[in-house]
Amino acid sequence: MIKSIEWADDRVRILDQSRLPHEVSYIECTDYRMVADAIKTLKIRGAPAIGIAAAMGVALHAQGLKAADYEEFMASLGPVIDTMLSTRPTAVNIRWAMERLKTLLDENRHEGIEALKRLLVDEAEAILAEDIAVNRAIGTWGAEFIRDGATVLTHCNAGALATGGYGTATAPILVAMEQGKEVRVIADETRPVLQGARLTTWELMQSGVPVTLITDNSAGALMRKGAIDLCIVGTDRTVRNGDVANKIGTYSVAVLARENGVPFYVAAPFSSIDFTLSSGEEIPIEERPAEEVTHVCGCRIAPEGVGVVNMAFDVTPARYITAIITEKGAFRPEDLKKLAETGTDPSELRLKS
Ligand code: MRU
Repeated sequence: MIKSIEWADDRVRILDQSRLPHEVSYIECTDYRMVADAIKTLKIRGAPAIGIAAAMGVALHAQGLKAADYEEFMASLGPVIDTMLSTRPTAVNIRWAMERLKTLLDENRHEGIEALKRLLVDEAEAILAEDIAVNRAIGTWGAEFIRDGATVLTHCNAGALATGGYGTATAPILVAMEQGKEVRVIADETRPVLQGARLTTWELMQSGVPVTLITDNSAGALMRKGAIDLCIVGTDRTVRNGDVANKIGTYSVAVLARENGVPFYVAAPFSSIDFTLSSGEEIPIEERPAEEVTHVCGCRIAPEGVGVVNMAFDVTPARYITAIITEKGAFRPEDLKKLAETGTDPSELRLKS
């Protein structure tokens, strides 16, 4: 299985995705700043993976701390947590992971500093292991929507590389194939950073999934020809009304899917659902350097001095989404609120294929 990140010998080992598919190389992080830099520069990316990386970064820093008591320990960890939170603003997984660590520390404040250090490592590793299990569950629920012989379009990379393993959007495809169904994938190249062309194709080919690469602007024409049966994408933050932030271009795919009668699914672990926000308008959208647009693989393609807008994500309104596939089942986007606020049993709201 492709491992985007692991805790190994008191280091954080990150597969450097900025070098894929040409080179499979790893960064051995010995300092939390290396982890934060890897997140910022997309060496590790994808909402669940950066949540795991941030948690491991905090655990890494904790190992070298000499603190007299809990208060001193927390005072040293505070700026590290803030650094992780400042790396990328759209994915809610980093905040989710940081809250989880803070709660753990608070609940064990009387255990002693050495015990807290160990607990942080265990928790970061648990976040990673749980993510893989969650993805498998998403795969099982999602596979119900994939018929034998289906062609699935995906945007960006919400695969093993973007998670602890197995992926979110790719999980239903992998499970459907394990069930003996024939499935083909069409991967949008995903400008500007080309996560589709560089990463999704690479990891699907490694897993033996038939995959075809297209330019982003081909999706509509292919849907019109009837060449795409369904779309499955990931999400960086899904909010209470079912609006979803994901890689820039996702909104266009969703609108095209609606226009062409193609079902549009979002694979969303609960770790990427932000129940504190009521609508997608409130999601902070990361803006990234102009060079990502003016250059392709280090080569300038636009004139010097041209103005650039480079929003890394967009928001797809809930009305374009057929279902949100989580580890607890697939739900209509508007039902997320009921799940969170009324404590309704998921089985009452679960969608059937
Ligand atoms: O900028 P990136 O590469 O981190 O964007 C990633 C995505 O948009 C993914 O679809 C999302 O994080 C979900 S990953 C399971």
